[in-house]
Amino acid sequence: MEVIPLGPGFAAELCGVTLADITADDAAYAAARAAFEDHSVLVFRGQEVTDNGQLAFSLRFGPPEVTKVGSLGTGSHFVILTTIGEDGEVVPPDHRYAMRNKANQLWHTDSSFKRTPALTSILSARIIPERGGETEFVSTRLAFERLDPALRAKLANSFAWHDYAHSRGQIAPGLASPEERAALPPVCWRMVWKNPVNGRNALYLASHAYAVEGMEPAEGKELIDELMTAATAPGSSYVHAWKSGDVVMWDNRATMHRGRPWPAHEARYMVRTTISATAADGLESMRPPAKQAAE
Ligand SMILES: [Fe+2]
Repeated sequence: MEVIPLGPGFAAELCGVTLADITADDAAYAAARAAFEDHSVLVFRGQEVTDNGQLAFSLRFGPPEVTKVGSLGTGSHFVILTTIGEDGEVVPPDHRYAMRNKANQLWHTDSSFKRTPALTSILSARIIPERGGETEFVSTRLAFERLDPALRAKLANSFAWHDYAHSRGQIAPGLASPEERAALPPVCWRMVWKNPVNGRNALYLASHAYAVEGMEPAEGKELIDELMTAATAPGSSYVHAWKSGDVVMWDNRATMHRGRPWPAHEARYMVRTTISATAADGLESMRPPAKQAAE
């Protein structure tokens, strides 16, 4: 297995190894897991992916999420991101599927709005547009390390509120359905996620974050906006241009990503599996003190 760096200080391609190798072999998993902890985004090219093969690979990394209400694939371990409607045709731009893609074009980390946030997301390209539709990543670990020490110390003891309805509301009022709102009440997380393997800290933020515990709403929102801007500064991203057979996985604790647009009439079909964070991934230190969680 060869690790080839791709991005500005993070993201790497793993060559000479398949998802099936990592699924079947403990040493291959250990090497891939070490690369994941180091590089935050891993790219595998030329894979022959099936749903079951992708899930078996994903399970190596921890417990799988069950897809939430309101998403395609609900109740299964797969999230289907597509612009192909039930009739087999590409949906119009105002269709719910297309609006969901727009929301995915905001900088975010997956599942920060859930009761259990995600360790990693694994995304495979099944049908891709001729051009566009890239996925762009930034390292929130490197972003944290660029901040001045006083701010870093403050953030390490600050907590932010995340809400799915907040990020969806930026695209269209009511894009989050009443069922989704009921299933996904706001949650509060420490603003810095410390990786227990290498001790490196990362900003934990997303388009879902809307308030900072103990700060006035406007002041908290301003801090979040400033940090989001700093984390996504020009020149700091890795842009993944998808090819058929690509699989990309990322560390939701240490990155943000966004989808890039593509011509609306072109089909795109991607399949995501998502693995929940556990205590071994540093989850417990992300929880706010009991007093705040109870509010
Ligand atoms: Fe995402």
